[in-house]
Amino acid sequence: MAYLRHMVFAVAAALLLVHVFGAATVIKRSETSNQETEPCTGRTPCGWAIYNRTTRYIEYFMRNKCACDDEKKCLRDDEDLSIAAYVYRCKVEETQEESKS
Ligand SMILES: *[C@@H]1O[C@H](CO)[C@@H](O)[C@H](O)[C@H]1NC(C)=O
Repeated sequence: MAYLRHMVFAVAAALLLVHVFGAATVIKRSETSNQETEPCTGRTPCGWAIYNRTTRYIEYFMRNKCACDDEKKCLRDDEDLSIAAYVYRCKVEETQEESKS
């Protein structure tokens, strides 16, 4: 299971790198061709809201390949200034508690 978690983190890091280099099409393609969605585990983002650096207006939302569990929602959690995006993670709505991995 620890091995799996490492893999999930590696995949998440790879996705972020891909995103940084603007290869959004790679994610888009796998999103449409791959119907099965694994749950987002740990600190894996469930999506990114890309905003305009100057206006800070959200231009589009990009979903990750994984999805949130039923009891969690994909909510804004963080901001990644380097890619001008808000990072969304699966969170329980009512509490602000961070689940430690
Ligand atoms: C951000 O918004 C400004 C003002 O509307 C616009 O001129 C600029 O092209 C936008 N930048 C991007 C990256 O879309």
